[in-house]
Amino acid sequence: MHSENKAEMQNPTSARRKQNGAHSGSQNDGVQPVLSVKSLSKNFGGLRALNDVDMHIMPGEIVALIGPNGAGKTTFFNCVTGIYLPTEGEVWAGRQGEPHKQLNNISPHHITSFGLARTFQNIRLFSSMTVLENVMVGRHCRTKSNVLGAIFRNPASRNEEQETVDRAYALLEEVGLQDLWQESASNLPYGAQRRLEIARALATDPFLLFLDEPAAGMNPQETVELKKLVLRLRDKLGISILLIEHDMGMVMSLSDRIYVMEYGSRIAYGKPEDIRNNPQVIRAYLGESDDA
Ligand SMILES: Nc1ncnc2c1ncn2[C@@H]1O[C@H](COP(=O)(O)OP(=O)(O)OP(=O)(O)O)[C@@H](O)[C@H]1O
Ligand SMILES: [Mg+2]
Repeated sequence: MHSENKAEMQNPTSARRKQNGAHSGSQNDGVQPVLSVKSLSKNFGGLRALNDVDMHIMPGEIVALIGPNGAGKTTFFNCVTGIYLPTEGEVWAGRQGEPHKQLNNISPHHITSFGLARTFQNIRLFSSMTVLENVMVGRHCRTKSNVLGAIFRNPASRNEEQETVDRAYALLEEVGLQDLWQESASNLPYGAQRRLEIARALATDPFLLFLDEPAAGMNPQETVELKKLVLRLRDKLGISILLIEHDMGMVMSLSDRIYVMEYGSRIAYGKPEDIRNNPQVIRAYLGESDDA
């Protein structure tokens, strides 16, 4: 599964274009997945919150992870992003054309630096910092200045700081928060805080972005904007996206493929039309929602 195709290694751009055109989700077309998860399990005492879950994400794919409350979706995110140590299983990831790395036993900070960014179901912002500063914090895993540089403010560190500010501001424009850059993060409405979390995640230059219920608490107009943003991130920046979301309209319209979990296990995966018509999924999950 992790063998590397030499032609694609030498020309990752053409591989991405090819994949962006197809979004097949197939692992047999010579393109290596950006994420491969094999038999991932997580026990909390006697509770098996994740049970033998496999997943792959191809370059440029938007993949949804859905399932009822308590199905194990956030636990999956936490195991892949290093917050929890999986009980069993393997996680491999990598940018296209670069060596892939096994992420088990790597700290969340290093996983972020490697290029896997995320947002949180329970928003985690620095509430006393401004909107701009929250995004700048995300950028720090890509900056080089050390503590001495920061204290003595040598030219290199000043340039880098200016670059960090410029980049953070550009990301605020991307998510539509530029006018609020001086505001304290805690003063933002809920939907705007979610967009700020996305900007902060983007500041780390990820190739893979995990979004945990990004539309939660958003009004319909904000949800429309969020959908456009997710598509832009994929289409313009080539970021692959894994999305946990209960808004079925959003899931069905955005996703190339969908994974469905129930009681810690993967019960189905496939294209939106297959998932929509899968009896087991309808029973487990979609049946709960009228707009599914
Ligand atoms: N740190 C923890 N300690 C013990 N049990 C946990 C922990 N984290 C999650 N669980 C349990 O694992 C199961 C899966 O939880 P998880 O948060 O992954 O579900 P979810 O699919 O994200 O649900 P939701 O849609 O409500 O966010 C639940 O039974 C939950 O109570
Ligand atoms: Mg959750």
